[in-house]
Amino acid sequence: MTITVRIFQSINGLAGLVALTLGLLDWIAHMSFVNVHMLFGILVTLSLLVLGILMLFSREMRIWG
Ligand code: HEM
Repeated sequence: MTITVRIFQSINGLAGLVALTLGLLDWIAHMSFVNVHMLFGILVTLSLLVLGILMLFSREMRIWG
């Protein structure tokens, strides 16, 4: 369970960084990669959902979930 949580935490962090960078790039530098940005944004959302559910079902991390 813990290793799965770790994997999803890494996916979440990386996808969040990419989504944020592409969003800021669009906003500040007017370089539009909005489609890729949306893909990574959705990845963040879904991985957070999976993380929350996984944590709810593990005894040590229930409060985080
Ligand atoms: C962790 C998740 C996300 C972060 C950190 C993030 C961040 C940002 C930032 C900083 C901007 C530029 C600000 C602006 O243009 O007003 C932006 C724009 C945008 N984001 Fe996201 N975003 C995320 C998720 C998503 C998702 C899930 C979608 C859609 C499925 C999405 C769609 C868009 C669109 C369409 C724009 C362009 C808005 C415009 O040009 O007016 N974003 N995002």
